[in-house]
This record gives sequence, structure tokens and C-alpha cells, in this order.
Amino acid sequence: MKVTILGSGGWGTALALLLHHNQHTVSLWSHDPEKAKQLELTRENTLLKGVRIPEGICITSDLSCLTDSEMAVFATPSFALRETARKAAPYLAPDAILVSVTKGIERGTHLRMSQIVCGETGGTHPVAVLSGPSHAEEVARALPTGCVAAAQEQGIAETVQRVFMNEVFRVYTHDDMVGVELSGALKNVIALCCGMGDGCGCGDNARALLMTRALTELSRLVEKLGGRRDTLAGLAGVGDLIVTCTSMHSRNHRAGILIGQGKSAEEAMREVGAVVEGYYAAQSAQELSRELHVEMPICDAVYSILLRGTPVKEAVHGLMNRLPRKESDSSWVS
Ligand SMILES: NC(=O)c1ccc[n+]([C@@H]2O[C@H](COP(=O)([O-])OP(=O)(O)OC[C@H]3O[C@@H](n4cnc5c(N)ncnc54)[C@H](O)[C@@H]3O)[C@@H](O)[C@H]2O)c1
Repeated sequence: MKVTILGSGGWGTALALLLHHNQHTVSLWSHDPEKAKQLELTRENTLLKGVRIPEGICITSDLSCLTDSEMAVFATPSFALRETARKAAPYLAPDAILVSVTKGIERGTHLRMSQIVCGETGGTHPVAVLSGPSHAEEVARALPTGCVAAAQEQGIAETVQRVFMNEVFRVYTHDDMVGVELSGALKNVIALCCGMGDGCGCGDNARALLMTRALTELSRLVEKLGGRRDTLAGLAGVGDLIVTCTSMHSRNHRAGILIGQGKSAEEAMREVGAVVEGYYAAQSAQELSRELHVEMPICDAVYSILLRGTPVKEAVHGLMNRLPRKESDSSWVS
């Protein structure tokens, strides 16, 4: 199959390597012609040091590579997805399958990434999402990984499964796009929070407390927006939460640690040097929680630290001193 990957960051590049390994004809598109030239020259993405990009992968900044692609994979940061989908739309082959691997919720509109792709490309293409615990650094080195491919039509999810799956990359199909996308976006907020706790010395108990209670509040929002609670129990939910909240590959977790150690959100993001999606998702989560009257204390605390400058220790105190309650009250496993 001919596949174009839109976005040549860490994740786009890792997926290009995976699909090339799976014998597909791959183009890796960068929005920046200078960056495309540089990648072409070095055949190495600085975010994936030591991993060579094979000559067989076409690196380009020309969207005409889409015209005969049977699949287009959107792998930009969330802030650039709408613009990228809009630019790509006129070049798409009429029956191309569109796959979003971007994790986020658009600020202002609160749309999921697949909704943006669908809206900007005329709504005539099948749209799927691929999500799960999958650090680019490990996928690029062919370490064992598992994800889900979610689509409204089972046949489309199965096509995505077939295209991406290999002996080290397992793909399970899923039918809850809402749950898969929201948990993928919101776990970044929780990873920031776990990092903040780690950075200010809260300890392992606190990390487990945050991750577990986060599942409860994320499931409330997922359900309110039409997704399913049980999705949170799978790879796109708890799986991605575990990897993002505990791994040093996670830039959200790393940014959180820096903030917990006393840096401002801006300083932390500069130091991490790559997109920190949780920063943007925290704002959307806070707005959604207000508008839909869904209680999300952990996301609220992160928002307040990032955007109101609340000291981390004060936010921890606030979370620990909420009213007593039964754990089973709106538990995510009910
Ligand atoms: N890195 C991972 O391990 C991983 C895994 C799964 C999902 N994701 C998701 O994939 C998305 C991309 O992440 P990443 O890690 O590749 O990001 P990155 O920070 O490594 O790279 C982002 C890329 O986007 C490009 N970009 C910047 N502005 C752009 C614009 N205006 N138009 C088009 N492209 C633009 C940059 O050139 C850069 O190459 C994010 O939503 C992330 O949450 C990442």
C-alpha cells in the first residue's frame, strides 16, 4: 500500500520506519522544506538519535505525494492538525483512508482530532485513529508495542490493523473512537500532574493515587461525551496512562517534573524542546469540565498550576483535602 505520513516529528518518523518495515511505500511529509532537506541529507531525526531512516522512505515537503496514497496518516502536533488537514484535502485520493495519530482536544472548539480531519477533508473519507502506549523512541527501535485502531466501521479498523501490525507491533481493533481519542489526549494532563508530584517529592504512593483517581474522572468525561467507560480499561486508556505517567520518554511527564521542581510552565516546555500536548489538553479539559458539569479535580489542579501559577504544593494540599467519599462513588469500573 502507498502511505503518506503528514508530520515528520518523532512519532511520524517512527511510524514511517514501521510501515516501511511492513513493505509499504512510504512518504514522510514535513511542513517545512528546510527540515525536509535536512532530514533527507542526514537520514536521522534528532528526536530518534542513532536510528537511520532508510533511503526507501521518500522525505518530502510536497503534498502531491498524497494523490496516489491509499492511506494518509496525520502525525502533527494537535495545534497544527487543522491547518495540515486543510492543506492536504485537495490532494487526497478519493478513496484514501485517513488515520489520526495526533493526541489532543482542539482548544476553543473541543473537537477530537478525527473530527477535525473529517471536517477539513469534506467528510467523505473513512477516518480512523491509532492510539495506545507507544513511545516513538521504542517503536523506532522495534521494541514490542501494542496499540488500538479505532473506527466507526469495523472493516476500516481492520485495514488499519493489517497495515500497521507486525511481529513487534500488535494492533487491536476498537469501535469507541470517542473513548480512545479522549483518553489519549487527557492522559497527557495526568502525566504532567504525576511529573509535578514526582518533581516536588510526593513519592510513588501519590503517583499511584493520581493515576487511579484520574481514571475515575476521565471516565466521567468520556461517558458524558458519548464514549464508553470500558475503553478506559484498555490500551488507549490505562495502558497509555501507565506508560505516559511513569516513563522518562514522556515529555509531558518530564515537563511536569521540571514544574514540580519550581520552573514555570513556559520554562519547562522550552527545556523539554518538543510539543507538550498536556499543556493544551489541560485547558480543553478545564473548559469541558465547567461546561458539562463534570467533576475533574485532577485536571482542574493541573490547569490551575499551569495557567494560574498556583504552587504545586498548594494544589496537592487542595486535592488531598477534598471531602471524604466512598471509592465506589462514580468509580471507573462500575
Ligand atoms: N512521540 C511519541 O512517542 C508519540 C506517540 C504517540 C502519539 N504521539 C502524538 O503524535 C503527535 C506528534 O507528536 P511528535 O512526538 O511527533 O511531535 P514532535 O514534537 O516530535 O514533532 C512535531 C512535528 O510537527 C511539525 N510541525 C510543527 N508545526 C507544524 C505545522 N504548523 N504544520 C505541520 N507540522 C508542524 C514539526 O516540524 C515537528 O517535526 C502529538 O499529538 C503526540 O501526542 C506522539
